[in-house]
Amino acid sequence: MRQEIAEILKGKQVDYTITVKGWVRTFRNNQFIALNDGSTNHNLQVVVELNSQDEALLKRITTSACISATGKIVASQGKGQTVELIADTIEILGDSDAEKYPLQPKKHSLEFLREIAHLRFRTNTFGSVFRLRNALIFGIHKFFQEQNFLNIHSPIISASDAEGAGEMFKVTTLDLDKLPTSEDGTVDYKQDFFGRSANLTVSGQLEAELAAMAFSKVYTFGPTFRAENSNTTRHLAEFWMIEPEVAFNELKENADLAEAMLKYVIQYAMEKHPDDIAFLDARLADEEKQKPTNERAEFGLIEKLNFVLNNDFERITYTEAIDILLQSPAYKKKKFQYDVKWGIDMQSEHERYLVEKHFKKPVIVTDYPKDIKAFYMRQNDGCEPGRETVAAMDILAPGIGEIIGGSQREERLEKLEQRMHEMHIPTKEMFWYLDTRRFGTCKHAGFGLGFERLVQFVTGMGNIRDVIPFPRTPQNCEF
Ligand code: 4AD
Ligand code: MG
Repeated sequence: MRQEIAEILKGKQVDYTITVKGWVRTFRNNQFIALNDGSTNHNLQVVVELNSQDEALLKRITTSACISATGKIVASQGKGQTVELIADTIEILGDSDAEKYPLQPKKHSLEFLREIAHLRFRTNTFGSVFRLRNALIFGIHKFFQEQNFLNIHSPIISASDAEGAGEMFKVTTLDLDKLPTSEDGTVDYKQDFFGRSANLTVSGQLEAELAAMAFSKVYTFGPTFRAENSNTTRHLAEFWMIEPEVAFNELKENADLAEAMLKYVIQYAMEKHPDDIAFLDARLADEEKQKPTNERAEFGLIEKLNFVLNNDFERITYTEAIDILLQSPAYKKKKFQYDVKWGIDMQSEHERYLVEKHFKKPVIVTDYPKDIKAFYMRQNDGCEPGRETVAAMDILAPGIGEIIGGSQREERLEKLEQRMHEMHIPTKEMFWYLDTRRFGTCKHAGFGLGFERLVQFVTGMGNIRDVIPFPRTPQNCEF
């Protein structure tokens, strides 16, 4: 029976015989194997009794080889571990030519590791990142399930543009070299697989809304796709999104739910994997040391996470946010690259100023100008003419910027139809969405959490490409 290394290191028990299997990280003095099986970022020291194994076998114990070792767990004499395994037998499960193996037992740059993403799982950093990613997935389900939310699988192939932003990947089986055309010269999608044009979904929200009109509380957790040509440390072409949708909720309850969810999952991940958090905390501190003093983050990773857990998020309106920016020394000294005035879509430099310089904690910004937000957001009543707003909310997090985007939805049929006409969203094709407003409409609200941005926040990883196993970005679809 194979035992996992995390279990062995956790136990205080000694003097029992077991088998471990894993990948060799290092092999020192022809005697000490550091073995890792991915259950923890700590290695188990496997001691090869000198002369007990034949020479040919010892040669095959190389960095990255896969081995099985059977022997006795004993209290360790050496530093750095409480127990170790004295091996009676060692079996090589998979040989590896250490000379050709791209991962050497030394520090590699994250850029280099991205090029060998098929192997980077075997490093300490990525071991910690992906165990935490897993804990966050489970923590999110746990949070919603404990509150009786229903998990809905929204479709991945969709014929509508949920965000109305037109940044979609087409899905087709048509031969691109011989596209069938209609009489007016446009592509004849009637001949396509679905008999109409189809795309990869940008969001499961619209379908979640339909389900919320029956189950009251639902959430989706699925892949979403955006064909935006954004080469930043926060954008992916394929990312995972969590989208709760709750009937009867208004904007304030929506913000309360988002704040409670973030705190819950951060705490869950920290409790589940304290060693991984500690490892990444030290890694980040090391990285920060390389930066000039004025660019260093104010908080360490653990400090930051604890601070978020123990403090209320700041809540301000968009109008208040703009006023803060206009009053800021940064604005007065013309430090912002982009102009600030009511009506702008805040740039990341503005969001960072609010979160990192002004409030120094997560900020929930509500009630954005209607013209910069999606068609489905609820139009606020009693706005000053020329300053129409919608019941939107974005949550901005230190070091990340927008981590959550959400809103109360327009539940009034007439207002929704009118807004869709204004924004050239086809109302006829989207009869199904409008039907919920025809048949028993009610106030409701929801939001979308970008899952990779959450993983970035919890792990302190600076680049979103390093928190998803195989990132898809413009000009890159390797592995
Ligand atoms: O703000 P967004 O576009 O909102 C929606 O899609 C709504 N339908 C959500 C809802 O109300 N149900 O996206 C939501 C979140 C963003 O706040 C961000 O965290 C993340 O998704 N996101 C991305 N993450 C990685 N790469 C991208 N290209 C992203 N675009 C958005
Ligand atoms: Mg958004």
